[in-house]
Amino acid sequence: MRSDLIITNIGQLVTCASGGKPKRGDAMRDVGLIENGAVAISNGKFFAVGKADDILREYSSDNVIDAEGKVVCPGFVDPHTHIVFAGDRLDEFELKIKGADYLEILANGGGIISTVSKTRDATFEELVEQGRKRLDKMLVCGTTACEIKTGYGLDTATELKMLRVIEELDKTHTIDIVPTFLAAHAVPPEFQGNTDGYVDLICSEMLPQARAWYEASHFAANGTPFFADVFCEKNAFDLIQARRVLEAAKQLGFGVKAHVDQFTNLGGSSFAIDENAVSIDHLDAISDEEIAKLSLSETIGIVIPTENFNAGKTKFADARRMIDAGCAIALSTDYNPGSAPCPSQSMAMAITCRYQKLLPNEALNAATINAAFGIGLGQTHGSIEVGKSADLAILDCDDYRLLTYEFGGNLVETVTKDGKTIKLIF
Ligand code: NIG
Ligand code: FE
Repeated sequence: MRSDLIITNIGQLVTCASGGKPKRGDAMRDVGLIENGAVAISNGKFFAVGKADDILREYSSDNVIDAEGKVVCPGFVDPHTHIVFAGDRLDEFELKIKGADYLEILANGGGIISTVSKTRDATFEELVEQGRKRLDKMLVCGTTACEIKTGYGLDTATELKMLRVIEELDKTHTIDIVPTFLAAHAVPPEFQGNTDGYVDLICSEMLPQARAWYEASHFAANGTPFFADVFCEKNAFDLIQARRVLEAAKQLGFGVKAHVDQFTNLGGSSFAIDENAVSIDHLDAISDEEIAKLSLSETIGIVIPTENFNAGKTKFADARRMIDAGCAIALSTDYNPGSAPCPSQSMAMAITCRYQKLLPNEALNAATINAAFGIGLGQTHGSIEVGKSADLAILDCDDYRLLTYEFGGNLVETVTKDGKTIKLIF
């Protein structure tokens, strides 16, 4: 049978196949490895996946790539980013090196709020241009699908501008994007001392307008999900305020997510699981009871070791314990100007192996198939399985564990997105 593209002579074909569900427990250590593998791709989807001998017997193509015995794995999925923003936070980086604390900086009008004023001032075109550069860096590092949050506008007009920027990026960039509305990221200067007033605005005006934007956007037309998120934390939104935001969002038809337990346990994990959150993210301060509750739920736990690394911390979310308890754990970069200026999922994998004690196979499943489930793309992305988007990376190595063993470089040589090949290293 003819196909559009065949990639063969794959030394290790790492499929991360999961049979339609997120991985937990022992399945986290199974990367679905096929030695001497090949894939056939047609119409942008995987058409056949298996041993090279079998694939080549059944399929032919005018377009055959010889992977020369190298590793092929799914394109990485980054399920938590904040890459639409203006400017940088280089001064804050130096302040933190000298000992300043992230929540103190935020309370003094710095941190997220300093990015908010630059993002409000930036034009649509400037934000698209800067966002595109960040997506390019992610693609070079092997990411083929990601989530992007708003949350540097914190007023209706700028939050909607950010949504339009995200839509423009999705239309024009190779990486597939899932949008998340995070008006509840911080309390804007106009509402200092009146967080409840800001929550009123989010519920009565911002969420409904965001939803109306989505319904008319190409995301809705393509069946891409739309999430609402809240930063449940000291100096941000407490549990009651977070509940108001997520319940209003659910009423409007949003899927929900939450930043919880990044620094302080306010009970956010338990609450967000009860809200059927698609993911709960950070989890540094999650309790044992909440880990047990997460393990029994459908919610994906997204851990973000780049944030701890960037802050120079040696304490990390206990992802090892969460996996051993049976939670479905995913990994993200959190790429943002403050807490994690990192475009690379393989860097996140390298850190999680060393500090959170994940094995390379667990880290890879966390950054691919489970990450896809964390943004509602588990049935279409995140693994090399027949019928899924033909998104993969060819790595310049013969053992996939090199991905996490080496760090600071980039083994991604070629990316295939929807069956189209992009050579990155020449
Ligand atoms: O996930 N925690 C809140 N939000 C981001 C940080 C964003 C920023 O510092 O600009 C995070 O770490
Ligand atoms: Fe975040």
